[in-house]
Amino acid sequence: MSRSAQELFGGGVAVITGAGAGIGAGLARYAARELGMTVVLADIDARAIADLRAELEADGARALDVPCDVRDPQALERLAERSVAEAGPVRLLVNNAGVEQFGYLWDTPVPNWERLLAVNVSGVFHGIKAFLPRMMAEPGQSWVWNLSSVGGVSASPLQAPYIMSKHAVLALTECLYQEVELAGHAHHVHVQAVLPGAVASDIFESAGAVEDGDITAAEDHRAAMLRIKAQAMDPVDAARVFFGQAAEGEFYLRSQPFVADAMTARADVLTHRRAPLLIRGDYAVPAN
Ligand SMILES: NC(=O)c1ccc[n+]([C@@H]2O[C@H](COP(=O)([O-])OP(=O)(O)OC[C@H]3O[C@@H](n4cnc5c(N)ncnc54)[C@H](O)[C@@H]3O)[C@@H](O)[C@H]2O)c1
Repeated sequence: MSRSAQELFGGGVAVITGAGAGIGAGLARYAARELGMTVVLADIDARAIADLRAELEADGARALDVPCDVRDPQALERLAERSVAEAGPVRLLVNNAGVEQFGYLWDTPVPNWERLLAVNVSGVFHGIKAFLPRMMAEPGQSWVWNLSSVGGVSASPLQAPYIMSKHAVLALTECLYQEVELAGHAHHVHVQAVLPGAVASDIFESAGAVEDGDITAAEDHRAAMLRIKAQAMDPVDAARVFFGQAAEGEFYLRSQPFVADAMTARADVLTHRRAPLLIRGDYAVPAN
């Protein structure tokens, strides 16, 4: 029989990057309030994590806010040091910080491309480099979650850098899973990929834009994505689902059933070697 999230994670330390908003904040609220975890809130937005820390402490939860830019490997190293020194051995690391970019690939400003890769891909790597050796050295059980996306198993236009980064994080996480096993730590270090579908957050508002070229296409796409936010899942509900699936020992943690459908569709595209299908029209969150 599988163990519950409470049994596995309860009372442990969770370090969450990008904890200042959206999914990261939802994970922090759920972990602190429902599982009694000490949460280390890391984000480039110092104000957001200070406010969340105050909110959680007012409820009697334990939280630490550590301003941190995941693009900087030294910042992740300092985060790991502080987490262990001030909160204790890390039970759960969530490499969650991520940014979006809208517009045609050829219109994407080079600094936006570089920033997105630095946050979404290198940020995950920096988290692994700082925390994995510490987790492997600890005899206790620990978990690493990397944020991919339903976009990590699909293709869609007008956000190519983002989609690419989520495919990259998924591949990185699959390889990391194998490497932890190869290095003999699979019995206590658990690697899992998180694939949210549509969870309410600030990601579309704060997404990068284009300055030249087809600005209308980019901003129309932002507007379409913002419309689906109204149908998106609450981040605390998403956190409950992710913790439940993690405790069940799933590798691919999915917020909504349509994420699994997208995985099946991806497998079908590859099996039949079909070219990517362009789907036009408005976006909507599938009913399931
Ligand atoms: N919301 C969704 O439906 C959805 C779907 C699929 C995947 N995701 C993934 O979930 C993760 C969280 O996204 P979200 O939707 O909650 O977004 P969000 O914009 O609400 O939150 C992202 C947080 O990351 C922080 N951040 C940005 N750059 C940073 C940096 N350099 N260093 C540290 N922190 C930084 C932001 O300040 C913000 O607090 C992302 O990796 C995203 O790709 C989200």
